[in-house]
Amino acid sequence: MAAQRSFRGVVLKRGFQGIVAAFVLFLAARFLFHFPPVFQIMFVLYAFLGTGVFILLDAPSLSPVSGFKAVALLVGFYAAISLVYIAGASALPQYDPMVEKGKIEKIVKPKLAATEKGKIDELLKRTEELDAESQTILKRLETLGGEKAKKIEASVGGGPTAGAAHPAAGGNLVALGKEQYDLQECYNCHKIGGKGSVKKRGPMLDNIGNLMKPEEMKEKLMNPRAWMAEGFEKEYNKKLMPDKYKELMSDQEIEELVTYLATLKDTSVQTPKPIKK
Ligand code: HEC
Repeated sequence: MAAQRSFRGVVLKRGFQGIVAAFVLFLAARFLFHFPPVFQIMFVLYAFLGTGVFILLDAPSLSPVSGFKAVALLVGFYAAISLVYIAGASALPQYDPMVEKGKIEKIVKPKLAATEKGKIDELLKRTEELDAESQTILKRLETLGGEKAKKIEASVGGGPTAGAAHPAAGGNLVALGKEQYDLQECYNCHKIGGKGSVKKRGPMLDNIGNLMKPEEMKEKLMNPRAWMAEGFEKEYNKKLMPDKYKELMSDQEIEELVTYLATLKDTSVQTPKPIKK
């Protein structure tokens, strides 16, 4: 009894210390380090986790249990911990380091290629300028010296260099759009072909190609408030679908994504009806 009462004291004392620590960490994360809100919350959670550990250290030992009861307790504990892990994992966004790595490469590579291409384009422009200059000089010589200049011109070869062949744009829009779907992590909230969002956050998109025109989907991406999926009033009002794609994506990328979505016409899946807002 005495042990129990003193343990209650420990819980109160440690609990109070934990709250103070959580508060200090929250203030520091917010005002001193200017961490984003997720980290502020994480620090608070860590403070409480630490408090829990310290309380456990001071907890009075339990009376020994044996036989069937011990096994049942062990299995129960294991089940509870597993449940907490599974629930926690499915509540958090899915994260696969290899996928993230692939994504970084996909984002960085075109940028690198673009800067390389920029350099080459600049060089080409410079040669064109130089070429044009030499042409005007030759023209002037021609007016001054007649035949001789013509000969020089013939040996130099006239006209600016023919424009470098530009690689054909385009490629497979649908495949690129599918890539955008993955890159933008739409799968965190949507399912296509049964894959994606473990927790039901947003509608399954398998039949969206039959329900929305490409321009309408574009509108939804640029401004999620413009359309609402029927039966998702709560999610719509909570503004669950992020309003960030107009900043994150280029027109070309949105075009690709919408082209891909327009191909999704699986009528066997219940994609909710989009309602114009
Ligand atoms: C954080 C969760 C979340 C993410 C990420 C997300 N959405 Fe959504 N989306 C929703 C929710 C919730 C709805 C339903 C409520 C509404 O219409 O706003 C929705 C609705 C839609 C609809 C309308 C569906 C219908 O049947 O009316 C389309 C289309 C859509 N999303 C496409 C996308 C695409 C494409 C991406 C990725 C670029 C994306 N969403 C990313 C949560 C999300």
